Amino acid sequence: MSRRVLIAGNWKMNGSSADLDFFQALECRTDVDVLVCLPATLIAKAATLTAQSEIKIGGQDCHAAPKGAHTGDLSAAMLADVGAQYVITGHSERRADHGETDDGVRAKSEAAQAAGLVPVICVGESQDDREAGRHIEIVTAQLAGSLPAEGPFIIAYEPVWAIGTGLTARAEDIAEMHAAIRAALPIGEAVQILYGGSVKPKNAAEILALEDVDGALVGGASLEAESFNAIIASA
Ligand code: 13P
Repeated sequence: MSRRVLIAGNWKMNGSSADLDFFQALECRTDVDVLVCLPATLIAKAATLTAQSEIKIGGQDCHAAPKGAHTGDLSAAMLADVGAQYVITGHSERRADHGETDDGVRAKSEAAQAAGLVPVICVGESQDDREAGRHIEIVTAQLAGSLPAEGPFIIAYEPVWAIGTGLTARAEDIAEMHAAIRAALPIGEAVQILYGGSVKPKNAAEILALEDVDGALVGGASLEAESFNAIIASA
């Protein structure tokens, strides 16, 4: 089965209105999907700026409830209302900073689907898990706990120790994990599985060429159009 390549950026807690000229500088290709997951404050503006293009806009988190007394939170429907089409769920930074659990990630992912968004569900092992040889077991358990019963969803495999560290998993380790993730998915052949963790222009081509790697989730290198363009170009 041929799956489209998706290059996704995650701006995390970076960026203001002045940085949205980024979108004028993006060089997209018809054969590669491009998604930028922005701080919630920038989604509406970015969605307007990119409305005539193929660039897709996403959020970085949503609440599991459709509405209600949850001060400071945003529902998936609110993100969709201002133009998001995707939302990241279960990023390791949210699992660490906000104590998010697999059950909670599944609830958020289902809420995203109910609002018409595609969840980009993140999984990944810690350094200790990898050193102990438990990485496959940990990630497949996260998947089992975090996935909605049905698609659509996208999986992002992001080894925690590779995020923001400049360390990238070895090609053989990425290939091993992506194959294990695909084998664990009930609708495996159709699902896009992204790799994330210090994806840069210099290593993107090697990673994106791996079987079962359908794209990348890019943090730091998605903040500048030049480096993000270089990653899109290497897909
Ligand atoms: P970096 O590319 O900065 O390592 O971040 C990866 C990530 O967490 C994307 O979600």
